[in-house]
Amino acid sequence: MGQRYDEFAQWYAGYVTRGVGQTVARAADRLLDRLLGPGDGRLCLDLGCGGGAHVPALTGLGWRVIGADISARQVELARRAGVTAVVASADDLPLDDRSVDAVATIMTTTDFDALPPVFAEVHRVLRPGGRLVVVAGHPCFGGAFVERDDHGACTVHPGYRRHERVEAHPLLGDGIRSRVGVVNVPLPALLNAVIGAGLVLRETAEDDGDEPVPSLLGLVASRPGG
Ligand SMILES: C[S@@+](CC[C@H](N)C(=O)[O-])C[C@H]1O[C@@H](n2cnc3c(N)ncnc32)[C@H](O)[C@@H]1O
Repeated sequence: MGQRYDEFAQWYAGYVTRGVGQTVARAADRLLDRLLGPGDGRLCLDLGCGGGAHVPALTGLGWRVIGADISARQVELARRAGVTAVVASADDLPLDDRSVDAVATIMTTTDFDALPPVFAEVHRVLRPGGRLVVVAGHPCFGGAFVERDDHGACTVHPGYRRHERVEAHPLLGDGIRSRVGVVNVPLPALLNAVIGAGLVLRETAEDDGDEPVPSLLGLVASRPGG
């Protein structure tokens, strides 16, 4: 079955390498640096890796990386960039229990259809003590119902509390979201899905950008034990 990003993989690869897309991608990399830290040769799963835009940041931190993405076209681009990657759904990974030291998932929580089964799968594949780092479009200052002006200030429109996929809406603009839709994920839905999977929330952070309100939220959670 074709996946939403198959048709737009090349477009997205261009988006994250210039303009505002690149600015956000680099801010996400700085959050990874801060929240994931050094890998020392350990294994990190890049969950929803896309074309592998954040793999250089992960390998730069010393992690060995394997990517997984549901879009075969995205995985093809990642492999072309030298990334070891598999086509798989985040809630059904071809990985053994307790087989990875860390999971990083970047700009994906508004693409996964349901978060609880994804974080349950993260819990399964993480070794005890291993950490999950989520870097996401900020649930409070992004999503389908928040409008940003040219100075980065936000107006929140009706719908903010809705936890559902939005396929079409004037606020989705003319970027990737008008092409693939977006799952509007209120902050409690994100945090409760992590906690509900049995992961322990350790730290949260926002991006260090210049805009008046942040674009990105980062969090660290770990599998107990180890
Ligand atoms: C906005 S892109 C982010 C890609 C990459 N992490 C980045 O930041 O450049 C979201 C990615 O999530 C993937 N995705 C959506 N649902 C998925 C699922 N159930 N399992 C695995 N990947 C999924 C999409 O195919 C897409 O590549």
